[in-house]
Amino acid sequence: MRERVTAYARRIEAPCTGGEGRLELTVPRAVVTVERLAEGALVRGRRVGARGQSTGPASARRGGASSVIGGASPMTGSASLVARDPLPVAREAAEVWQLAERLTGLLPGAGPLPPGAEALLEGALKHESWLVATLACDVLNRTGVPAVPQFVRDHDPCPAGRHGEPARPRRRPADGGDGSFTERWEARISVDEYALFEATHPAYALQMVELGRSVRAHCRTPPPTVLDVGSGPGLPTVMLAEMFPGARIDAVEPSPAAFPHLLRNAARHSITAYNAGIADFAGARDYPVTVSVGASHHLDTRVFLRGLKRHTAPGGLIVVADEMIAPFTTVAERTRAIIDHHFTYIDQALAHIQEEDLPPAERRRLRALRDPGRRSPERLHALLAETRRDRLFHAGDSSPWQRVRFCVLELEALVAGVDYDVERKTYPENFIALAADEGLELVEHHRVHATVGDRDLDAGTHVIAMRHSGRRL
Ligand SMILES: C[S@@+](CC[C@H](N)C(=O)[O-])C[C@H]1O[C@@H](n2cnc3c(N)ncnc32)[C@H](O)[C@@H]1O
Repeated sequence: MRERVTAYARRIEAPCTGGEGRLELTVPRAVVTVERLAEGALVRGRRVGARGQSTGPASARRGGASSVIGGASPMTGSASLVARDPLPVAREAAEVWQLAERLTGLLPGAGPLPPGAEALLEGALKHESWLVATLACDVLNRTGVPAVPQFVRDHDPCPAGRHGEPARPRRRPADGGDGSFTERWEARISVDEYALFEATHPAYALQMVELGRSVRAHCRTPPPTVLDVGSGPGLPTVMLAEMFPGARIDAVEPSPAAFPHLLRNAARHSITAYNAGIADFAGARDYPVTVSVGASHHLDTRVFLRGLKRHTAPGGLIVVADEMIAPFTTVAERTRAIIDHHFTYIDQALAHIQEEDLPPAERRRLRALRDPGRRSPERLHALLAETRRDRLFHAGDSSPWQRVRFCVLELEALVAGVDYDVERKTYPENFIALAADEGLELVEHHRVHATVGDRDLDAGTHVIAMRHSGRRL
């Protein structure tokens, strides 16, 4: 325990005192005590004021030290500080932006579909822009058509001689290259399947439109370079390139399983891929815009935020899109929050699928995934083992079978999250408070898609824009 906690303290540059059984870390506005118990570790937080005086408990939970510590800043919730007209779009991106705005205007809640909308959506599903096709897929699904973008249907599952089965790590590495607690993504997630099917994730493209809007709203000039952290196979990176074709995008991704997909997907765009974790990335430290999609929950939140800040110019913009869960204070609450969050996405993705339309292997999988009796914490590993079997590639099948396979990925993330291994989702208040601690000013926050709860700060897909204050902690 001592070794892990002191390594973590070094990484986040927090003074660490104490002995083998009890350690104290001093982070901005909080002191965190990690105590060894017979059955694990007890982590407690105590808020402290600017001069170090105690102001009350911050948080307490059992398990390893992590991103749920701290969090004493006042919440601002959804605050838009758009003060001027957004940046104009580049000529080459005009069609993509125009379609993106039209399609987001068709999302349920915006009223009944106007005449001609169905034809527009069906055409958009086949559009060569991954952003447009993925957005159309989402809108269609929400209006009752379980769609799949054409580029996903056309995707070759065997890049560079690889086969379609999920990548399996030869061994489980101790960390993801950043020296903290991150294990490799492919230890828990079927990366080859992710590269194919993640585009059917609810709000996957919508978060990118919102991220793009944030960049346009809060940059004075078009960014010549953008850093993308945790690009994975690169679908959102490609969408970013479609929205900002004038920018050179540097994509940082440590996973050896995801990297070949990223290289392949980046090839048609102005994207340079770096096979590194953010803590080891040796690139520039003055990006005017840094973004990250779906990656903040894969490493310690402070390590993540510091990594992004380190590479962003003072005054620069950082936009993070990611899934976050409902607030929690105990392991049991966290487990419940993760299960409810991921099963909501699964139910949304499967909502309109007719079992009889699917190939037999996917019918069985669909039944298992929909069975409410198999969703209790103790049955999840068995459900995952069963749904992971027989993942054939149904070339030429026109049913929405890819949606069922996306749900296996969602279940993998759920189970990894419950195990607190690779997946370490937090809640928006905590993320925003930690960002404030790290000298990142909140510019804008939106929950672009809800899973659980009515508040903007409840579970779902969030886009958070922050400004590097220029302060070096
Ligand atoms: C859920 S995937 C998101 C991928 C992609 N951005 C997307 O939204 O589809 C999270 C990614 O974060 C990456 N990751 C994990 N640890 C990281 C680190 N230390 N630095 C940068 N990326 C990391 C993983 O390898 C993985 O590709």
